[in-house]
Amino acid sequence: MKILVTGGLGFIGSHTVVELQNKGFDVVIIDNLSNSSESVLKGIVAITGKEPQFEKLDLREKASVQTFFKKHNDVSSVIHFAASKAVGESVKNPLLYYENNIASLIYLLQELQEKTEAHFIFSSSCTVYGQADEMPIDESAPIKPAMSPYGNTKQIGEEIISDVAKMSSINAILLRYFNPIGSHPSAEIGELPIGVPQNLVPFITQTGIGLRKELMVYGNDYPTVDGTCIRDYIHVVDLAKAHVVALERLLENKNEDKVEIFNLGTGIGSSVLEVISSFEKVSGKPFPYKIVDRREGDVTMAYASTDKANTILGWKTASSLDQAMESAWNWEQKIRKNNFQ
Ligand code: WQD
Repeated sequence: MKILVTGGLGFIGSHTVVELQNKGFDVVIIDNLSNSSESVLKGIVAITGKEPQFEKLDLREKASVQTFFKKHNDVSSVIHFAASKAVGESVKNPLLYYENNIASLIYLLQELQEKTEAHFIFSSSCTVYGQADEMPIDESAPIKPAMSPYGNTKQIGEEIISDVAKMSSINAILLRYFNPIGSHPSAEIGELPIGVPQNLVPFITQTGIGLRKELMVYGNDYPTVDGTCIRDYIHVVDLAKAHVVALERLLENKNEDKVEIFNLGTGIGSSVLEVISSFEKVSGKPFPYKIVDRREGDVTMAYASTDKANTILGWKTASSLDQAMESAWNWEQKIRKNNFQ
């Protein structure tokens, strides 16, 4: 049983490959290295002692996808991470996002729908809810008009998968992540943002190590406990484990529908200032930030209802915000150890 992990050298993908290999699965990775590096393979081996197969391949090339599935004709289970994911970039370059995130999904599904049985785990996002009306957000919350082309590719992706699963042998689970943060406790793999990080936690750790001067906090005039936005920050290892649980659910035919949806979060909302306080606690040093204007497109609050994932999927998070921040800080120090301040 070989599991295809697309984007398997990326942040969440590499952590999921580790958990798959820890559970004894054989893994083949497809990655085009546009937002990752082949050196991540070494980190995976350092943790698990096993080297996954790796094929450098761009899923936008239909012929390459077809060739892959001819060569790996024993692949019928896919965990699909490969996608562009920067909200701001998607606004500037929507067609890059529609081509990369949708065309590649279509080519994968065209191969899987030919199988007598296929299992598909899709990397989706809480961004599909927009600003939900009620907290915590459960899976029945209405899908709101996407706030960015990136978010729209997740909504469209979910619809495509649902339509194809209805008429084919594909069983699918859509995993809607809240905010993945942190790194593997071994500090052998972690987040490797290219350029200036758009996301909060890598910007914080890069500021902590001295790469960035200070954090811009995007607004403190929101209707929240301290005026800053609330998010549900989930440790990437907890998130990775959820993918293995979801895959095993499909492999053991425990799914109750052809397409199931689960929110993956801690169920706890944390404000930007609370994340900063957590970092100060784990790093043991004061943190430089300043309040600036709100960022276009930010929702005020988003944190997950964990009921469905806990009771039906049988999964829950184990790490706290401090533990996640500590792992992120350890990773940052490790990769920058030469110029650690
Ligand atoms: C978190 C909070 C910012 C940076 C996005 C996508 C989501 C997923 C995760 C891909 C917000 C504040 C941030 C900074 C700040 N992407 N912030 N200064 O926007 O919740 O989610 O990334 O999978 O789909 O929507 O995450 O980390 O960018 O922001 O004040 O320099 O931190 O305003 O309140 P976000 P984020």
